[in-house]
Amino acid sequence: AAKAREQRLSLTDVLAKAMGHYRDQLKRSDRAIAYLKKRGLTGTIAARFGLGYAPPGSHALASAYARYDDPQLVEAGLVIHKQETGEEERRYDRFRDRIMFPIRNPKGEVIGFGGRILDSGEPKYLNSPETPVFVKGRELYGLYEARQAMRERGHVLVTEGYMDVVALAQLGVPNAVATLGTACTADHIAKLMRFTDAVVFSFDGDTAGRRAASRALEAVLPHASDTRSFRFLFLPPEHDPDSFIRAEGREAFERCIAEAIPLSAQLMAVAAADCDLATPEGRSRMLAQARPLFEQLPDGLLQAQMLNELAQRGGLSVEVLAGHWQRPVPGKR
Ligand code: GTP
Ligand code: MN
Ligand code: MN
Ligand code: MN
Ligand code: MN
Repeated sequence: AAKAREQRLSLTDVLAKAMGHYRDQLKRSDRAIAYLKKRGLTGTIAARFGLGYAPPGSHALASAYARYDDPQLVEAGLVIHKQETGEEERRYDRFRDRIMFPIRNPKGEVIGFGGRILDSGEPKYLNSPETPVFVKGRELYGLYEARQAMRERGHVLVTEGYMDVVALAQLGVPNAVATLGTACTADHIAKLMRFTDAVVFSFDGDTAGRRAASRALEAVLPHASDTRSFRFLFLPPEHDPDSFIRAEGREAFERCIAEAIPLSAQLMAVAAADCDLATPEGRSRMLAQARPLFEQLPDGLLQAQMLNELAQRGGLSVEVLAGHWQRPVPGKR
């Protein structure tokens, strides 16, 4: 009973304490500091994002908390508890020898971490597990840190990686966030729409990044409206936003933002993938691929524009296309 009355820390307090611990450990590790310097980051930006370092030991967090076997450490995703039958139970730190990126909610509370291995090894990034305060498909890294800048600049950049967000901020582009190694979802977009009505997707130039862009298209279609802007930026295949801005500089990156293609063009590009628009077969295939995308657009002028555009590119009058799409396609179940 006495124990029940004991003041219980909230999970976000437990996580904030871990952030403090990882910050302290970073200050003591020449190796971790050297890694961040090698990635071009200064102490100021590391402090702004609360970057830290989890040392290699398997019980390093024991020095930060009164009780290492506190179930809250497991609940917060900081300690892994294994209890296999017939074996002694084991508890150990989830994050070991990693650069730590605290993930904050829009209120600024720490809700989880991403941890990057120094140099090479598997997995490159380790994220907190889902917990009562951390739902992966819904959170965006850097949202708290970027909230002011995205209002001032009138748009947000959505990237793939922790390092993209931090490097962009370091080099003068502070309005970026990242999905946490998952696809961009409609939930992510809904969350961003509380801060801005313009999104520029800036994924890696590799095939994974291009795939991410088509998934993002599907996430934004239901949110499209005549007053919102969604655009897609494509970097050269060898780059991500971090490496690009480092190699080419801020102005070159800002030019890419200015040239990002609108949602309508991205819809058209995805629909026309593998289609030879010079042939009736290719144009029909493009329209068939466009239809499920088009149908996710809410009613409105953008939808009407898109129908017109698709009809033109598809070589049909808008009446024929509209008529065709209003009834079931013949020969299909
Ligand atoms: P750097 O190599 O540090 O520049 O990282 P990056 O962000 O460029 O990595 P990459 O483009 O490979 O991956 C993009 C994002 O996917 C990362 O920021 C992570 O969120 C996630 N990710 C990458 N590798 C892993 C992994 O091994 N495991 C998990 N869970 N997520 C990963
Ligand atoms: Mn142990
Ligand atoms: Mn990549
Ligand atoms: Mn990357
Ligand atoms: Mn990178």
